[in-house]
Amino acid sequence: YHVDWDLVTAEKAGFDHFMLKEIHEQPKAYRDTMRGRVSDDGQSVTLGEIGMSAEQIKGIRKVQIVACGTAYHAGLVGKTIIERLARIPVETDVASEYRYRSPIITPDTLVIVVSQSGETADTLAALREAQRNGARVLAITNVVGSSVAREADHVLITWAGPEIAVASTKAYTSQLIAFYLFGIYLAQTLGTVEQAAVTELLAAMNELPEQVESVLEQSAVLKQVAESIAKHKNLFFIGRGVDYAVAQEGSLKLKEISYIHSEAYAAGELKHGTLALIEDGIPVIALVTQEELYEKTLSNIKEVKARGAHVLGIANAGSEVEVSKSVDELFAIPKTLPLLSPAISVIPLQLISYYASLAVGNDVDKPRNLAKSVTVE
Ligand code: G6P
Repeated sequence: YHVDWDLVTAEKAGFDHFMLKEIHEQPKAYRDTMRGRVSDDGQSVTLGEIGMSAEQIKGIRKVQIVACGTAYHAGLVGKTIIERLARIPVETDVASEYRYRSPIITPDTLVIVVSQSGETADTLAALREAQRNGARVLAITNVVGSSVAREADHVLITWAGPEIAVASTKAYTSQLIAFYLFGIYLAQTLGTVEQAAVTELLAAMNELPEQVESVLEQSAVLKQVAESIAKHKNLFFIGRGVDYAVAQEGSLKLKEISYIHSEAYAAGELKHGTLALIEDGIPVIALVTQEELYEKTLSNIKEVKARGAHVLGIANAGSEVEVSKSVDELFAIPKTLPLLSPAISVIPLQLISYYASLAVGNDVDKPRNLAKSVTVE
């Protein structure tokens, strides 16, 4: 027998850490999660595999998305996707809250549990609670044959492949892809979205892997950003709409592996308290990808800048001129449809966290106090 590190080095396939390898596997994970689920003509999503009949879909009156950690953050984006496309009301909850808050679960509720491992104790308990109340459960999970996959009524597998690093990256983005596919599938069954819009969404989804590649190619810039951030003790992430959901994931990622304190705030909510914490030189990462909200977010950026914050804007290519006037630094990401932007905008945040963790000398793949899978309460 050879010593373990040989095997581990081989598994990292030339990358220094599993996290970096997994960040780079995202274009493949997007393609694998979409494969076989879009019709050849690019006009529709085919998800017969989940075994949900048209009648069952038409009977859904509300959706509850339940998950922990990063999977919960995917669920926050999932809420916007399903509400926008299928016009069904959606609540997203962390599993440890959901299971004890006596949620109103009815037989016409669809509960969606999201779990990379499929073994998280609170998520599994939420699934059982939902079924006990007569709701159907759809599991979005990365592990075929996991507890969550076995017990759910319907299963949508994310084909991210094994994720080793504790900080989740490719599992999160594959969960987003699963939500886009499921949202379109619901919308087509319910007739809530026009064909032209579906065709446009699916065409734009096909572009995502290459767009992610182009962000990965700019890693060197993000490494520099991370090294300056790593000198600070506190920072903020702000955004509106899906940008706020991505801000929350960016903040969690940074905390998990760099141990630098950060908070994610809905940009419009800052003035209700958190603005008091903005002082000279504090870094603020502002996501500005939602065209209809540009002006609103830019005015929030002015508020933090006026108090001395150093703002890194993450904005769509093409909007640099407009956004760069309001920020200190700008990182441009390839433009996609507003609803799809989380699948791109989270990539720079993952890389910033990775390089910040390296800069402070942490064990990137195995952060202190954290486990990859939390199977006890
Ligand atoms: C742990 C991991 C997180 C993960 C969460 C939920 O806290 O460290 O990365 O997001 O569990 O895990 P799951 O397997 O249910 O997605």
